[in-house]
Amino acid sequence: MDNRPIGLFDSGVGGLTVVKQVIKVMPKEETVYFGDTARVPYGSKTKETVTKFSSQIIRFLKSKDVKAIIIACNTVSSNSYEDLKKEFPDMPIIEVVTPGVESCIAATKNKKVGVIGTLATVGSGSYEKKLKESCEGIEVYSKACPLFVPLAEEGFTNNDIAKLTARTYLKELTDKGIDSIILGCTHYPLLKTCIGEVVGESVKIVDPAKAAALKMKKYLDEHDMSGGGEEGRHYFYVSDLTPTFDMICSKVLKKSYHAEKIDIEKY
Ligand code: DGL
Repeated sequence: MDNRPIGLFDSGVGGLTVVKQVIKVMPKEETVYFGDTARVPYGSKTKETVTKFSSQIIRFLKSKDVKAIIIACNTVSSNSYEDLKKEFPDMPIIEVVTPGVESCIAATKNKKVGVIGTLATVGSGSYEKKLKESCEGIEVYSKACPLFVPLAEEGFTNNDIAKLTARTYLKELTDKGIDSIILGCTHYPLLKTCIGEVVGESVKIVDPAKAAALKMKKYLDEHDMSGGGEEGRHYFYVSDLTPTFDMICSKVLKKSYHAEKIDIEKY
């Protein structure tokens, strides 16, 4: 048994959709979350910058004595995972792309799938490569949807602006006859209703978060590292106290939380 917390991080509010699944799958685990609200978005930054920011965050999470980390960000998972594993060889780190690929392969029937994500995630080709390696004959249609991130950070998840943006981005994917779509950015589940309305009921929406939480559970169980306390406590840290973080956090997790600001550049 190991009652130390699980660490999670993202550029902002997106990774909270992963925290939600972690709480569902492992209600006894304590979590520490870091949202890099001062430096969001990551999706338009270079691999070097994303890796540098992520290293600082992992050093911060280590200072909170986390036992393992979920990279609750597809941009970091796609671009920096290998470098981070090398830099922190003793820290168990789980990324979100592989669980997303596995869930999508289980979901698709016609082997025509869509992947949406940030420019850096789509540009890395991570989903397309893993999908093609794991499923022969699969057709992958990828589309970067960078505007979804500021919409989610702003809490514009299903208003007219969100709907128009979703229609503009997603039409070319639905025109290809996809039967599944991977939400390859952890911000996007916040717009799930809006995206669902645009792609239609026949397209399955794949959110990698649950599979990532299950993968962490399996790892902790297998290594005798699961927590065994009462209901886990959850702590939130940000690099800037934006007006929307606490509001979105409380909305996503259905409980009131208050984030604490820390100076991430120190780490
Ligand atoms: N939520 C993150 C992701 O999954 C990052 C979005 C961004 O900061 O651009 O890609």
